[in-house]
Amino acid sequence: MSDVILGIESSCDDTSAAVVRDGVLLSNVIASQSVHEAYGGVVPELASRAHQSNVVPVVHEALRQAGVSKEDLSAIAFTRGPGLLGSLLVGVSFAKGLAIALGIPTIDVNHLHAHALAQFIRTEPDTDVPEFPFLCLLVSGGNSQIILVKSPFDMEILGQTIDDAAGEAFDKCAKVMGLPYPGGPHIDRLASEGDPKAFRFAKPHIPNLDYSFSGLKTSFLYTLRDALRTDPDFIEKRKADLAASLQRTIIEILLDKLKLAYEQHPTAHLAIGGGVSANSGVREAVARFCSQRGIKAWIPERRFTTDNAAMVATAARFKYLKNQFCPLSLPPFARVSL
Ligand code: KG4
Repeated sequence: MSDVILGIESSCDDTSAAVVRDGVLLSNVIASQSVHEAYGGVVPELASRAHQSNVVPVVHEALRQAGVSKEDLSAIAFTRGPGLLGSLLVGVSFAKGLAIALGIPTIDVNHLHAHALAQFIRTEPDTDVPEFPFLCLLVSGGNSQIILVKSPFDMEILGQTIDDAAGEAFDKCAKVMGLPYPGGPHIDRLASEGDPKAFRFAKPHIPNLDYSFSGLKTSFLYTLRDALRTDPDFIEKRKADLAASLQRTIIEILLDKLKLAYEQHPTAHLAIGGGVSANSGVREAVARFCSQRGIKAWIPERRFTTDNAAMVATAARFKYLKNQFCPLSLPPFARVSL
């Protein structure tokens, strides 16, 4: 029998709703919140309020684009966490309310699982998907993890950041360069015009598979501070070189640990996900890393790299097929867990 799942994502600053029928994506609507631009970062309370205004029109639009009515839905899936608690509460409460009204079950989805399973989003029936187990490099504004994805229900975090996420390193360094928020895409664009070897920034020396980006951020700041003492136009003159060198260093840090993870868990397939996986340099470096080792690389379409409900509905379907529904009493959670 046919199944139609509505997914809702509200963990950070994107309100998204998507509809998946029999595992095929029918719609994926994302309302990005511009209210944070003035602050150079996400303001949690403003994010919750924007989700409240966005969630009804976004869900309506997702259903309209999919050509299905509320009564056609088999289940409603929502991101339970990790994320901003206030933001999560909006999506979780809305999903439960709608499910009660329609008399259908709810499915809770872990945001990290959804990113790790984003390669299973199908826009057409019977397209290829990754083989389990596979390694997933998950890099976004809030997460930097290497995950061993053993099955849709069994994932192990092999390493994760002990301070900033990779996206934060992009965004914070971009901010001090005077670039708009989020800075990652601006660094990506500028980097293509600069010399990646122009500057050397600090890299962490952590023996295990964990990441750290705060030392890089500090060394980037010191470079700017020292140069600005003698040349107030330094950033303007060298912004492409600064961006290219920053991007190269972030990629080296990411790839060094990915290499170690692969040595310990030589899987035949490897995926990347999260907002930073939209970065041209990261995509190229991972594709090269995989082709040199004969690994099948799964590089997501850019629209599925940042937070989206298509991945939530897709991840939920694995649970739907096993009748794994959640009780209405289930609360959201803020902190990283698998
Ligand atoms: O997955 P995502 O939408 O959600 C959060 O975890 O917030 O990721 C957003 C992050 C931001 O830090 C943004 O700067 C980064 O992804 N990002 C990029 C690029 N596109 C988005 N970073 C580097 N290069 C890009 N092209």
